[in-house]
Amino acid sequence: RFVGKTGDAGRGDIQSRLFKDIQTGNRFQGRRGGKSVMGKQESEKTVTGSDGSGRYERKALIDKLYETQELSREEWIRLIEGRTPELSEYLFEKARAVREREYGKAVYIRGLIECSNYCRNNCYYCGIRRGNQNAQRYRLTADEILSCCENGYSLGFRTFVLQGGEDPAMTDGWVADVIRRIKKEFPDCAVTLSLGEKSEAAYQCLFDAGADRYLLRHETADADHYGKLHPDGLSLAHRMECLRTLKRIGFQTGCGFMVGSPGQTPECLAKDMAFIRELNPQMVGIGPFIPQHDTPFRDERAGAFEETLWLLGLIRLMLPRVLLPATTALGTIHPKGRELGMLAGANVVMPNLSPLGVRKKYLLYDNKICTGDEAAESLNSLKESMKAIGYEVAVGRGDYRL
Ligand code: 5AD
Repeated sequence: RFVGKTGDAGRGDIQSRLFKDIQTGNRFQGRRGGKSVMGKQESEKTVTGSDGSGRYERKALIDKLYETQELSREEWIRLIEGRTPELSEYLFEKARAVREREYGKAVYIRGLIECSNYCRNNCYYCGIRRGNQNAQRYRLTADEILSCCENGYSLGFRTFVLQGGEDPAMTDGWVADVIRRIKKEFPDCAVTLSLGEKSEAAYQCLFDAGADRYLLRHETADADHYGKLHPDGLSLAHRMECLRTLKRIGFQTGCGFMVGSPGQTPECLAKDMAFIRELNPQMVGIGPFIPQHDTPFRDERAGAFEETLWLLGLIRLMLPRVLLPATTALGTIHPKGRELGMLAGANVVMPNLSPLGVRKKYLLYDNKICTGDEAAESLNSLKESMKAIGYEVAVGRGDYRL
């Protein structure tokens, strides 16, 4: 286990040591010695550019992004393709400076409650897809969700995220009732929903019931790529329409994508960045794609850890105030994923607050961490690990700074 000095004095050391570990390819041992997906990592790409190295040009692009929050499509592609350990360190320093300017050292926490793993969709990447006969399906009762909140509240959570598959049995009226109960019992808490695509009327009903935020990853902003990840019937156009509707209704809205999903190219990622900038969401969730053994993508390779960090840093520079989690998927492919995510520009973590009995069933991807330090009941070790890198878990709703 990595041991570092705590407090500000040791912070620089810790950061450079953590980065060095990544750069030298020391990927640590998996915490439970489980099968690691890190073996499938791509190696760092060699940079070649007009000046022979391309480094200065790319550094200038990072500077431009830092100063103007904007890049052209071609510039995005060049930067996305041009990642090196040295440039990453430069980017992350800038990303941390921006994050600390906007949010100080605060790390916002959200308690994640996985309400249902029934889903009417059949996305090729996702372990709770309709076609997965091996998934053990469950649906929490309203009382179970409320007791998750009670538990979370006493631990210090002031945001609850209700996430689930698109479960037709979890009707909008039922969800609205649950939201009202949460809001009545915990008026100082924010409620975030992550329940997929719905009609405008349904979104409005949930907003009127008191929900504050909505997460709906767009998954990819390239329509062809979207078609490779989803069966017919799901479209990027509809996904984007949902996101615009959510924003218009008044939700703090989050989009996002998987890094390294099958078929993703630098052009796709450049489109993701352009779309995110245009939507200007309050939250962005990104994490590496990780294959799940009961999906059509079981043999695909996982997204790269370093590339995910790189994109976190770029998103921080593009949207300085965005609420940006170091996601569970990031923590799954690297034992220091959350810490390194923070050091790359993230400012949110979402520990698991689901009842212990269902956590293993919400298996979006293989080896998903759910009972270690990332779990809500291990908040103290989260606090310590954040302190060790110079950050501090904040108590409060952790709203977007207007
Ligand atoms: N690997 C990584 N992330 C995944 N998600 C779904 N399946 C996977 C996977 N195999 C992500 C999607 C979805 C979010 C809830 O989880 O981006 O929006």
